Formats: sequence, C-alpha cells, structure tokens
Amino acid sequence: MGCFPCSGDSSSSIKKRERKRIPPANNQYKKDDQSQPSTDIVKANEHKVVRKEEAKDAPQSTTRTDGDCSSISGEGENDGIKINGVNKARAFKFDELVAATENFKAAYFLGEGGFGKVYKGRLADTGQVVAIKQLNPDGCQGNREFIVEVLTLSMADHPNLVKLIGYCVEGDHRVLVYEYMALGSLEDHLHDPWPDKKRLDWNTRMKIAAGAARGLEYLHDKMKPPVIYRDLKGSNILLGEGYHPKLSDFGLAKVGPLGDKTHVSTRVMGTYGYCAPDYAMTGQLTFKSDIYSFGVVLLEIITGRKAIDNTKAATEQNLVAWARPLFKDRKKFHQMADPVLEGHYPVRGLYQALAIAAMCVQEQPNMRPLIADIVTALNYLASQKYDPETQPPVQGSRKNSQRSRSIDEDKKPVTVDGQ
Ligand SMILES: Nc1ncnc2c1ncn2[C@@H]1O[C@H](COP(=O)(O)OP(=O)(O)OP(=O)(O)O)[C@@H](O)[C@H]1O
Ligand SMILES: [Mg+2]
Repeated sequence: MGCFPCSGDSSSSIKKRERKRIPPANNQYKKDDQSQPSTDIVKANEHKVVRKEEAKDAPQSTTRTDGDCSSISGEGENDGIKINGVNKARAFKFDELVAATENFKAAYFLGEGGFGKVYKGRLADTGQVVAIKQLNPDGCQGNREFIVEVLTLSMADHPNLVKLIGYCVEGDHRVLVYEYMALGSLEDHLHDPWPDKKRLDWNTRMKIAAGAARGLEYLHDKMKPPVIYRDLKGSNILLGEGYHPKLSDFGLAKVGPLGDKTHVSTRVMGTYGYCAPDYAMTGQLTFKSDIYSFGVVLLEIITGRKAIDNTKAATEQNLVAWARPLFKDRKKFHQMADPVLEGHYPVRGLYQALAIAAMCVQEQPNMRPLIADIVTALNYLASQKYDPETQPPVQGSRKNSQRSRSIDEDKKPVTVDGQ
C-alpha cells in the first residue's frame, strides 16, 4: 500500500519488490494530498466514523482529519472503530501482536512493500490466523495512509475486499491486522512462482479477473461516497482458498468527485506501468484512472507479462505499449496468451478477454468502459469453463521453453509441438 514514493531497496528482504512508485516530484499539480487532505475519506465520512467512547457521549463528534493516529484510537485503550453501532476494527495492544507473531519471527515473514514488513500470526484469544503489517518507521509511508487504510476498510464490506481485523496505535507503532490470505498475491502467482506451485490455468485467471472487477465495482458504485482505489496492481490482489481474489491496500484511496465534478485534482501517485496516462499527465483523477489500471492487470493475467519489465527488449518493456499494435490484428491474439498456458485456453474467451483489456487501456478516459459493464463481461467469461480434457490446446500458441511446466502437473497436456 502507500502513497509516499518508495525508492529504497532492501536486498535483505526476500520478497521486497522492484516495482517503482511514481515520485511526487514528478508532478506539479495543485493540491498536495500529502499535506492537505489528511484524508478526504475521513472528511466525507466523519459523521459515521467515531470512536467507541465518543459514540456514546457525542454522536456528532468526528474522527480528526489531521493525520494524528490518536484520532483512530487512544493509545493502549482497548477500543476500536464502530460504524452504526457495529464493531468494524479492533484496536490491538502491541504486545498482543508480538505474541501473535512470536516477536515478529523471521519464519512468519510473508513479504514487504512500501509500508513495511508483513508477518503471518495467530491471535491468542480467538485463534484466528492473520496477516500483520507493521509500518517501517524509517520507510517512505506514514500515518496518513495508515488512517485512510483503516477508515476505508472499516467502512467497506464486500467478499472481494480484504477484511481488516484491526490495527495498533501505540507509541511509534502503527500496525494493521488483516485476514490471512493463504495463497498470497496474484503477482506472486503470475511472476514469481514457487517451484512447486501450480501455475494458474485459464479458468482460475478468469475467476480472479471477475472477482477483482467486482471488488472495484463495489468501491466505484456501491460505497457511499464512492471511492477511487488508485492502487490496483497484481500485488494488491490477494488470493484466498480456491483462488478467491480480494483487493487490498487502500492507503491511496480517494473519495470520487462529488456533485457535477468529473475529477479530483491530486498529486499523482501510484505505480509505474499501472497509472493511467491522463492522470499521470494532468493530475486529474477519475474512476476511469482505475479502469486503466484494471486493464493493465487484466493484460498481465492474460499474457503472464509484467506491467513493466526492464529485462525485455525496449519495445516490450511496457506491457500496454507492446499490446497496442497486437490488439489491431486478430491473427496475433494468440501471441498474447501466456506461454505457460501451452495453448490451453478457449479461443473465443481469449478474444473476449483481450477485447475487454483493450477497451480499458484506451488513451481517452471517456472511451474506457464502466466497471459495471466490465463485471458483466467478466462474470460471463468466468462462467464459461474451459475443459482441457475435451478442448484441444490452441495450435500456434508459443511455448516458452523457460516456463514450460504444465499448468497442472497431474494432467499431461499435449503441447503445440507434440512433446
Ligand atoms: N492479508 C494478507 N495475507 C497474506 N499475505 C499478505 C497479506 N497482505 C500482504 N501479504 C503479503 O505481503 C506482501 C507485501 O504486501 P504489501 O501490501 O505490504 O506490499 P506490496 O503490495 O507488495 O507493495 P506496495 O507497497 O508497492 O503496495 C504481499 O506481496 C503478500 O505476499
Ligand atoms: Mg499490497
């Protein structure tokens, strides 16, 4: 998660990413959302989000907007966030999280992003397995994202958004506690496969794409006020049992334009390769900025390529730039299917998925589809199950010799070259 650019690397961290955040120095747009909003989500919902003890005595009192975490929870108090009388996030004592992770034991380390390190843990009182994300005090992200994350997830409730169990604000500690997503991130599966990990088959890819789209639809169309996610990418799509996808990391989220406004003016934040060109150029954030990012993720799902891959030839480093000329020629669509699939995909399904991705990454934001239409299309594609037993692999799909393991090691698909 995170809006502050992170350029530091950590060679000691086995799962720290090389993805580059967009540095704020790159843009000169009006409103500085690091200093300003503290969080417009906080403001827009201040009537709803109240501290537990305030709820009783002063229902009109609000969560403060100055980025002070004590506004979320008093230090050490065992309160949390309540919305409409329902407990939405629990306030943990730091000691409870130390116990849950056996003092942040290296063996429980799951990964690291711009916010800090993530550990697997088990809560002593409930026995629930959780993911615990600890803010790195020397890192590039801070209180503001922490607050936006806590408040956005406290207000949200959808099967395709990761659940926030609670948080900890104690001294300098800022910690987020999430439900544990057993299969890690989509990025891990597409680009960083473990040696014994089953590669994603076509049906699973469509299931993930459709679920992620439903999560985004909830943010855009169902939340009140609507929310622009701003950080859609493979590492923020987490996978639970059965590859059930959930969006995570809402530290960059912004309340969408209100009234007649078409956009929110803001400092450009995000991750290279996923950021819509119009937003990057103008600083004008719209719901269509998220649609562009969704298109990039869908392209990654179909092609198995990274949004930005500096190891490739210059013309292939940017996924969208590589894909655009291929979109124009149906005969080349097969070249875009992930070689790891070894031809095991439905031809019509591939064409339709590519058509959706192509619409999403159009340069003109108003030409990009609405999320509701994407959900309809992807729900349909996900419902059309491809059966590798009855449908032969597509001839002419490229087989990548470096990634030639079968999708499912138990089944032995016939490959294009008959080997
Ligand atoms: N709820 C969770 N359950 C299981 N694993 C998780 C969970 N949250 C995060 N992780 C793991 O921790 C890693 C780091 O996540 P984090 O969100 O901090 O950074 P990131 O998304 O990779 O990068 P960035 O900071 O650029 O967004 C993820 O790749 C994932 O493997
Ligand atoms: Mg993340």
